[in-house]
Amino acid sequence: MSLNTDVLIIGSGIAGLFAALKISEYADVILITKKNTAESNTNYAQGGIAAVIDKNDSFEKHIKDTLIAGAGLCNIQAVESIVKEAPERINDLIEIGTQFTRKNNAFDLAKEGGHSMSRILHAKDLTGKEIERALIKAVSEKDNIRIMENSLAIDLITEHHIKTNKEKSDNLNCWGAYVFDCLKNEVYKIVSKATVLATGGLGQVYLHTTNPIIATGDGFAMAYRAGAVMTNMEFIQFHPTSLYTPKDFKEFESKSFLISEAVRGFGGLLRTKDGQLFMHKYDDRKELAPRDIVARAIDNELKKNGDDFVYLDITHKNSDEIIEHFPNIYSTCLKIGIDITKEFIPVVPAAHYACGGVAVDLNGKTSLNRLFAAGEVTMTGLHGANRLASNSLLEALVYAHRVGVSIKDLFQSDDTTILPQIPEWDDSGALSADEKILISHSINEVKQTMWDYVGIVRSDLRLERAEKRMKNLNEETDKLYKKTKVFPKLLELRNLITCSELIIKSAQMRKESRGLHYTIDYPSLALNDLVKNTIIKNDNS
Ligand code: FAD
Ligand code: SIN
Repeated sequence: MSLNTDVLIIGSGIAGLFAALKISEYADVILITKKNTAESNTNYAQGGIAAVIDKNDSFEKHIKDTLIAGAGLCNIQAVESIVKEAPERINDLIEIGTQFTRKNNAFDLAKEGGHSMSRILHAKDLTGKEIERALIKAVSEKDNIRIMENSLAIDLITEHHIKTNKEKSDNLNCWGAYVFDCLKNEVYKIVSKATVLATGGLGQVYLHTTNPIIATGDGFAMAYRAGAVMTNMEFIQFHPTSLYTPKDFKEFESKSFLISEAVRGFGGLLRTKDGQLFMHKYDDRKELAPRDIVARAIDNELKKNGDDFVYLDITHKNSDEIIEHFPNIYSTCLKIGIDITKEFIPVVPAAHYACGGVAVDLNGKTSLNRLFAAGEVTMTGLHGANRLASNSLLEALVYAHRVGVSIKDLFQSDDTTILPQIPEWDDSGALSADEKILISHSINEVKQTMWDYVGIVRSDLRLERAEKRMKNLNEETDKLYKKTKVFPKLLELRNLITCSELIIKSAQMRKESRGLHYTIDYPSLALNDLVKNTIIKNDNS
């Protein structure tokens, strides 16, 4: 099967859906998504979305907080422009029906780590679900947006796939993607004049993560294979507080349940297993220090005391207010027998967010022609070496809008585009049941390796070990891939390995500790002339 469209969007989180809405104003869109439409990191976002709304707040303060968290690596133009565009884009969300929580006729603005002001708009502790609901409704009302669920993008189509028309690798175009139909078990192609990558994060690279199972880093890997420039992949954010659950607790499929930073913003205190407060030993901002500091402090306490978790304590606050603010966290903890109004919550850090990604300019253009990107898969320069809480939904929203504008400009300047002839996918090969089991083992090996050697605290030795293991896994998987009919787990394994390699390689390039990248071999900041982004490009593309 082959489909043609003006714009192919890959991903149905906030970035993909909002871009679809904007682009539908002037072009036809096919939006593919690998599970059902709502399944995305966006859908699980709790704390909210940051913006300057309060009259006592200012753009300058939000910019300053973002730059401090970013530890010298933010792109100042990106930071300033995103922060200043935030109120307008939030208004777009409100206009399509997003209901943010209000109190006394004003937005109930919450506070989170690293923010000097209360500036987080939220929908109780289910902000992502509410944004996703409103966006899906708005998109479903557009006749020229076709949503295709259970459709997993395998690879971006570039000149490499057009055998008669190989171009120099520094002038590649993206002409859509090969897609796996997860219901029919077959591959087809979608050919487009422009493509938007909005595939979200890669948390599933790690054993413990807050990210749902869709977050296997497909977009990062596809972009890298296609030859796009990748930046700052070493900066993986570990959220300090995911719920520690007993090993036999199967409720949350392959992911850890998040206990929102807003709980600390509300007054939550961190305590060791024997009840002692400890954050004052690490930072003057205590529980509300930026995430890298809090996660490292917890990691240190766990190692020092030989404990499996620390506690988050909110029991000193009013019970009704806790339940009112955090209904989802309250009811989820109750399922494992913890009443958070009376008992401490056991928490551990978990991989949460990729600050690096596909390099995009201020307009959402990648280094490949006709390929645009928005959301967690990108590196815009907003987060630098560490993302400020609740800045990622904002970044995705602003860049989805900008991508909409950029593609409109492209179409206006070049309305004669003829889509090239793209060959069909080579679907030969087979796979035995035994080999399928090996794939599950390999996925577990990737996750365990990354958790053990490329986590919150790194070293040259650990990175070298991870590099060697990933090389083996890569070779084994590549062999299988070449002789096999593709299927989702194999495709995801391949992408997990590529993402892991990109993270390891970038981490090895950074000979200093900065923001989220902490290594015992280079425990301080490097001299100023070393303060730069790590850049990786696939030379074989
Ligand atoms: P996503 O929302 O992850 O969407 C990606 C989409 O791409 C999905 O639909 C997925 O199925 C699809 N996809 C992926 N690969 C393929 C493929 N190969 N083919 C087809 N489709 C594909 N940020 C904040 O700012 N505030 C918060 O309060 C907050 N809370 C969070 C809580 C949790 C538990 C998590 C996990 C993250 C949180 N974040 C928060 C981060 C934020 O939610 C994400 O960074 C953001 O939602 C990413 O949006 P996105 O549109 O880029 O990607
Ligand atoms: C949270 O609610 O703690 C997550 C916020 C974020 O990731 O920005």
